[in-house]
Formats: sequence, structure tokens, C-alpha cells
Amino acid sequence: MTRLMLEQGRVDDFIRHLQAQRPVYAPRRKGQSSYVFAPVDDPNDVVLDYPRTLHSVKKYFLPPREELLNFNLKANSYGQPEIETANAIMLGVHSYDMHAVLRLDYNLAKGNKERNYFARRQGTLFIGVSFSPDKFHFSGSLGISPYDTTGFDLFLYKVDKGFALEIITAMGEKLLSGFDLPALGVPLPPHGEFQQHIYVPQSKLSEVFDHSQENAVWEEEAARCVSCGTCNMVCPTCYCFDVEDEVDVRVVEGTRNRRWDACMLRDFTEVAGGEVFRHKSAARQRHRVYRKFKYISDHTGEPWCVGCGRCTAYCTANISIVSIVNRLVNDYEKDSTARLPQTQPIIDRAREGHSDPAGEAKDLYSPVMAEIKSVQQMTDLEKLFEIQLPDGAELNHKPGQFVELSLFGAGEAPISISSSPAKKGVFDLGIRKVGRLTEMMHRLQPGDRVGIRGPFGNGFDLEKLKGKDVLIIAGGIGLVPLRSLINTVIADREAYGRLIICYGSKSDQELLFGNERKMWDEDPSIEFHVTVDRGSPDWTGKIGVITTLIPELALDLERTIACICGPPIMYRFVLLALKSKRFPEENIYLSLERRMKCGVGKCGHCQINNSYVCQDGPVYHYPAIKGLKEAL
Ligand SMILES: Cc1cc2nc3c(=O)[nH]c(=O)nc-3n(C[C@H](O)[C@H](O)[C@H](O)COP(=O)(O)OP(=O)(O)OC[C@H]3O[C@@H](n4cnc5c(N)ncnc54)[C@H](O)[C@@H]3O)c2cc1C
Ligand code: SF4
Ligand code: SF4
Ligand code: FES
Repeated sequence: MTRLMLEQGRVDDFIRHLQAQRPVYAPRRKGQSSYVFAPVDDPNDVVLDYPRTLHSVKKYFLPPREELLNFNLKANSYGQPEIETANAIMLGVHSYDMHAVLRLDYNLAKGNKERNYFARRQGTLFIGVSFSPDKFHFSGSLGISPYDTTGFDLFLYKVDKGFALEIITAMGEKLLSGFDLPALGVPLPPHGEFQQHIYVPQSKLSEVFDHSQENAVWEEEAARCVSCGTCNMVCPTCYCFDVEDEVDVRVVEGTRNRRWDACMLRDFTEVAGGEVFRHKSAARQRHRVYRKFKYISDHTGEPWCVGCGRCTAYCTANISIVSIVNRLVNDYEKDSTARLPQTQPIIDRAREGHSDPAGEAKDLYSPVMAEIKSVQQMTDLEKLFEIQLPDGAELNHKPGQFVELSLFGAGEAPISISSSPAKKGVFDLGIRKVGRLTEMMHRLQPGDRVGIRGPFGNGFDLEKLKGKDVLIIAGGIGLVPLRSLINTVIADREAYGRLIICYGSKSDQELLFGNERKMWDEDPSIEFHVTVDRGSPDWTGKIGVITTLIPELALDLERTIACICGPPIMYRFVLLALKSKRFPEENIYLSLERRMKCGVGKCGHCQINNSYVCQDGPVYHYPAIKGLKEAL
């Protein structure tokens, strides 16, 4: 280990030496008491002794606003903006912010490695600087000391008369070449003590969090929280985003942009029907803190908070994440007589960093342009579209999967694939007109082109259904994805047992797929039941909500698998009706709807506890989600 002495008087020269090689970003003062990372123009502006910056260096790799695509509405075509790789030097980064970058690396590489983030991130060099813990820092409790050099190329320790400079990597050594410094002759002084602590190791915190969903602290803190989302915005490990199209005043050109989003905002989970899955502030606070200490940590063994203290320091309502966690620990000990080991630091360092630089980073957000081959009006609100990929390529989907449908100017939305994989050359989308994108889609004609990404999600596991009786329970537009499954079973009829379809709709005017319904009704190998909440005068069928169909069904409970899709409210009642028939829970599969902004596990919108609906769902085995808060 090489440590050199950088006298205070040579710091400006050192920065100039760095500037001669690459652009340098470093902390500078903003206003009276704030600090921000900014490009360095004049080395005199750089402040290396600072408590924390408002935002971390995350903003350079995952910018607050970023153009994903630019498009031309007339040509219905798009291009990709060049991603500016900063190839920069980040000078004066605190150890907790470096650990936050390593955690972002993990999130943006997991499953699908995102090109945008990694293109910016890869070429960057980091020079750390030690810090003096203030009343908000608690990174020490998370195993991140002010002297932690993980992830850095060079590190500056504050010492009397300047800095001790340590060379960590070969790139760091190269940066220094030509800038001679004497060796440091004295040992490093101890770093400052932390004033804030969480005393319990992560493995035990996970146990605490297993028992803390109902803790009163969520309601108590929610009473003070104003749902401003600041805690998310300043957090160096938060990565959730929203995606929106913006069009210029001439309505000719536009851009598809992503923006940081905040799970503390009420509409973060709002879906088309108006359902908000975490509508109470207490549920949102719980989700935020669970994300930091439970949901991701269960996969990685490490807390997903780095103890920077920003969310507490900048909270409008003085809500402290340390106080919340310590309260959960105390209440757990009180209630369970468990005595938790009190250690410090609390981390069980499962892995040194999380970055997975191996593997190819992919462009995840560019759609392929596909052609609408036919349009059929099904009801006043729903149309069925046949879509063909370029060169007639197959989508290769499974029943229950979805695509991200993209219309420039309106954005993207997840839409289920309604045709069976047995249908070749084209695939079907059944679309209800509810908002901007779907209204624009309803105006399109055969020959028009739309963007498609996918297929995404898991879909139904056909191997689990083969040889079994298949019970389909579809409410309203829930028939759209289930039609893909129904037609898959019909195309391979011998492979399955009975096919029982229960379909409910608000009114007979809103019933979908008229021709197919007639065929299902007439096919002796299909037991087709349909009901409507309200019937028009010439409706001769059943009237009643979908659950009224269930008691009448004669089922072989052991060999029947139920596949359910419908509006969120329907699940609760259908599950009750199945329960009262003693239908085995392990034979139930549900397709869930969540707000989705990326479809590839990056935007965080679709998260239910530690599961991402766009990747682990939308089809779930009921026992796996039964106990999850906010799932149903
Ligand atoms: C896996 C999956 C499969 C789906 N399959 C289908 C399908 O096959 N057919 C179909 O028609 N629909 C389907 N949907 C629903 C569809 O994605 C939504 O209806 C989508 O929002 C329509 O986009 P839009 O722009 O037309 O409407 P939006 O503009 O999104 O408006 C619809 C509603 O969404 C909410 N909303 C939208 N944006 C925001 C925001 N920024 N803040 C707060 N609330 C907002 C509001 O409640 C609004 O009323 C599916 C959804 C999922 C998750
Ligand atoms: S910063 Fe504070 S007040 Fe704002 S959402 Fe977060 S906890 Fe609530
Ligand atoms: S949760 Fe709070 S303390 Fe933890 S990393 Fe995020 S902003 Fe920092
Ligand atoms: S994480 Fe973005 S939609 Fe699932």
C-alpha cells in the first residue's frame, strides 16, 4: 500500500494535473450551507472537506432527466441520442456514495444490463476523500467507514496540513504519473466517531423486518410525512424512474424521456382503473424503508441504504430512517423476547461490491417498428389489432406475457398478447381506450406502424397445466390475456383435461370476442359460462357478478388449475368464492396488473415487496403472493 503526502498548498496543482487528463467533477459550495457535485472549472472552487452533497454522483450515470429516444411524428421513426460517456474523474467522493454506485451497478446489471447507465459509468475514475461524521451520517453502522476505499482508484485521507493520498488501482497510479509526491511519514489519525447508529446486523434486521409490517411506526411517521418524495430524490441508491414522451410545439418532433421518480408519491403505483396499490402514506413509507433493509437485502445480504443521512437531513418533516429502524428493533425485542446481537458495524459483508461488469450491456428501450395488419372494433371501448413484426418474424411469446406498445408522442404501455403462440406470422393485442396512448392507438388503421418491445414477463407455465382440468376465470378485459391461454389449450386439446371458462363483464355490450365466444359456447369440449352485472333488455343470459358462477361449478378439486385475470378488486371476491368451495390454493394462478414504465426490471414501478411484476409476473402462483402486503 502506497501512501503519499499531498500538502494543502499543492491541492490546486493536483486538481490541475487531473484536469490535464480528463474532465474533473468535484464538490463545490452552493449557497450558504449546501454542497453539490459539479464540473470543475477553477480548482479554487473545489471543497474537499464537506458534510454531504445534495445529490450524489449518481446524477452523472443515471441523470435526473435523460432522453431515451428522439422521434419524428410525421415519419413515425426514431433515433437514439448519443450517450455522452463522461470518461471523467469524480474527485472528492465519500465512501458511502461510492458504495451507492456499486449498489446501482447491481440494480442496473441484474437481469438486463442497461446500456445507458453502463456506457456512462464504465470509463469513470473515482478519487475518494474521508469525511467527519456529522449528526446525520450512520454509514459506520452499515460497515462503511469514512476510510473505506472500496471502489476507488485513489483515496485522500484528511490529515494535519493536507491529505494522505493512497494509490488503490493501476488506473489511479497512472493518473498520478508525472505528479511527484513524498511518502507519508506518519500513521493515519483515527477517523471521527459516528453519532448515529443502528446496532443490529443485516441478517438479524431481516428477521426484524419479517415481523414489522404492522408496526405502529408506519402510521405515526405517516402522520407527519407530507409525501413530498424528497427522501427518494436525494437518496444515492434510489433508482426508480418514470418515462414520458414530450412533443415540440409544431407537433413534428419529440423525445422520450426518463425522469427520476419517487415511491413516496401517491400516484407512483396508480394503474389504469384508478387503483393505487400504496394509497396510504404509511404503506409508502414502509415500502421505502423495506426496500433499503429487506427487499433487496434478502437477495444480496447487504443493506441497500449506505447511511449517508440525506433522507433525514433533507426531510421536510424531520423523519429519521435511523429512528424508524431502531424503533422496529426495540419493538421486536420487546414483543418477541428475542435478544438481538448488538454489534458494530452491523453489516454482514456478503460481497465486496455488487458490480457485474461482465456481460453485454443492452439497449433496453428501443422498440422494433411493427405493422398493424387488421383492426376490429369489439365494443365501444375495445378494439382488436393484428400486429406483424418486420419480415413476419415470430414474437415467440407464452400465453400470459405482454409487450410494451409504443406510440411516439403518447409513450408506452404494457399490453397483453391476446393470441395464442399457435397463431403464426401476426399476434393480437386487444386494447381498451382509457387514456392518451390507447386513444391514439384506436385512431390507427391497417398499414400504420407501432413500436413493440418484448415479449416480457413470465407467462403461464403450460407444463403445470398439461394433463389437468383448466379453469379460466376472466373479468372484463382480463379475458384478453386469458384468450391466449384458452386458444393454446384449444390448439392442443388432447394435452389438457376439461376446459372450463367463466367470464364476467359489466354489461352484455362490453362482452369481448363475440365470434370466439360463440365457438366456445358451441364446442362440446368447452364448458363456457358467462355472466354480466347489468343486462340490456334483449340479454337472455345470466345476470350477476362473476363470483355467482363459481358455486355452481362441479370441479375435481385436486386436478383443476384455476387461471384468473381481471380488475384488482375482482381477485379478493373470486378467491373467497374458491375458498368456500375448498379449492386448493396451490392450484391457483393469477395475473396481476401494475403500473409499468420499463418492462425490464429497472424502473421500480411494478414492485410488490421483493418481486418485480414485469419479470417475476405478471402470472403468480397464489401461495407465493398470498402473504405479500399490497399484492392483492
Ligand atoms: C401486464 C399488463 C397487461 C396489460 N394488458 C392490457 C391489455 O391487453 N389491453 C389493455 O387495454 N390494457 C392493458 N393493460 C393496461 C394498460 O397498460 C393501461 O391501461 C395503460 O395505462 C393505458 O395507457 P394510456 O396512455 O392509454 O392511458 P394512461 O394515460 O396511462 O391513463 C390511464 C390511467 O392510468 C393512470 N395513469 C397513467 N399515467 C399516470 C401518471 N403519470 N400518474 C398517475 N396515474 C397515471 C391513470 O389512472 C389514468 O386514468 C395492461 C397492463 C399491464 C400491467
Ligand atoms: S422527505 Fe420526509 S416528508 Fe418528504 S416524503 Fe420523505 S419522509 Fe415524507
Ligand atoms: S435511505 Fe437515506 S440514509 Fe440510506 S442511502 Fe438513502 S438517503 Fe442515504
Ligand atoms: S421494473 Fe419497470 S416495469 Fe417492472
